[in-house]
Amino acid sequence: MSADTAARAARKIGKSDLRRQRECAARVRKINESRAETPLSYVDTYGCQQNEADSEKLRGMLLEMGYSPAADGEGADVVVINTCAIRSHAEKRVLGVIGALGHVKAERPGRVLAVCGCMPQRAGMAETLRRSYGYVDLVFGVHALWRFPELLEKALGDKERVFAVDGDGGAIAEGLPSARDGSVKAWLPIMYGCDNFCTYCVVPHVRGRERSREADDVISEARALADSGYRDITLLGQNVNSYGRGGVDGADFPGLLRRVNGVDGDFLIRFMTSHPKDAGEALFRAMSECEKVARHIHLPFQAGGDRVLRAMNRGYTSGAYLALIDAARRIMPDIVITSDVIVGFPGELREDFDATLRLVDTVRFDALFTFIYSPREGTPAAVMDDPVPKREKQAWFDELLASQNAISANKHAAYVGRTVRALVDGRDVGGGAWTARTNGGRLVRVAGGGIGDGDIGRFIDVKITGSAAWSLTGEKKE
Ligand code: 5AD
Ligand code: SF4
Repeated sequence: MSADTAARAARKIGKSDLRRQRECAARVRKINESRAETPLSYVDTYGCQQNEADSEKLRGMLLEMGYSPAADGEGADVVVINTCAIRSHAEKRVLGVIGALGHVKAERPGRVLAVCGCMPQRAGMAETLRRSYGYVDLVFGVHALWRFPELLEKALGDKERVFAVDGDGGAIAEGLPSARDGSVKAWLPIMYGCDNFCTYCVVPHVRGRERSREADDVISEARALADSGYRDITLLGQNVNSYGRGGVDGADFPGLLRRVNGVDGDFLIRFMTSHPKDAGEALFRAMSECEKVARHIHLPFQAGGDRVLRAMNRGYTSGAYLALIDAARRIMPDIVITSDVIVGFPGELREDFDATLRLVDTVRFDALFTFIYSPREGTPAAVMDDPVPKREKQAWFDELLASQNAISANKHAAYVGRTVRALVDGRDVGGGAWTARTNGGRLVRVAGGGIGDGDIGRFIDVKITGSAAWSLTGEKKE
């Protein structure tokens, strides 16, 4: 084995370890098959797309173990709560849900209640679950996901509670089964973890160091997805632009995009999230030259003031960010640009916030995801001076939202009268219309004649007839 091959092999979980998990799954399945009724399972997901992708793997493993999916947690024999730790609001919600499941557990003592994902990885949280939530049977972190069959088998058999919160994964498990939600859109993780250590962010602390999947593994999964008819594939990573960094096969993100674009089939390629410090012309060129890549970039700027950007450890200035936006628009004039921003970072002053407002006004994002800063224990920002009261931060937040809503509404209004190609991905809640996404990811509610369930999974031409800040409405054009 060459040094390269050895290094590469070390980044993947070994075949024999994965085989052992399949053996555990087979044993659980055998027990389940001998039961009078097929047992049910339910996976409840919080947080980002990476968690959604992880939950699809959990569901895949549960199917392999002989569980059928339940409509909700109440009637299920195994309930898994896949948690998020990004803001304290997300954590409180999850703790509320876990608390509410306590009574169900009391009524059906045989059921297994599992908590996994980012929350257990946070310092002290596994301990909190151990002490204050005694009816939770199984707690495991993101790095133990691939060991779920073994852990569930243990929880089913033991009287003891099972805790598996590993430090830093480092290795990647390939070939886990995945039960995907829907048949039109698919998540395709290309990397895990984050090395950026933005000072407010808990992700590098809970998801560990950045590690990329091998390009060949990504390509074979993309091929399999395209062959099974998926029409919208989103490449996922905390920072996709540093894909391949430190890797041994010389892959980088623009190169990966070009390779995925070469996979046969009629599908769109999306990706998220991009970090401004690693994005540049090479990426925009690849996007513009690859016909399957959506003309959309989600490029979080987080703050408009350079003082705050520095304190956040973002690695760019507002000027550099604006230059990046100019480059993207020069190469792809029709590109849709969305972003994330945090309001009320510790030490942020009104003048810094004004710089955020100015940046939003200059760029005119198609959509903006706005968050009020939430201190995360163990991050540098959590111990920074934070004198601005919550009330004031909320007022800034409302101001920003109003400003962005006007921009989004204005941008969307410009679609009215145009005919755009959109991928129909489902039925609107309420049932009266179908939902579709434009190439740039804008949501279109399609109503009126000519459209039906047979269009789900198809690219159709839609005449846009109406618009709002967050969505468009239209009719199918024959
Ligand atoms: N407080 C508020 N928002 C945060 N984000 C990440 N960490 C925090 C935090 N501590 C936001 C960032 C990121 C998005 C996914 O969540 O804007 O891009
Ligand atoms: Fe968090 Fe920054 Fe990494 Fe994004 S790039 S996950 S904000 S540390």
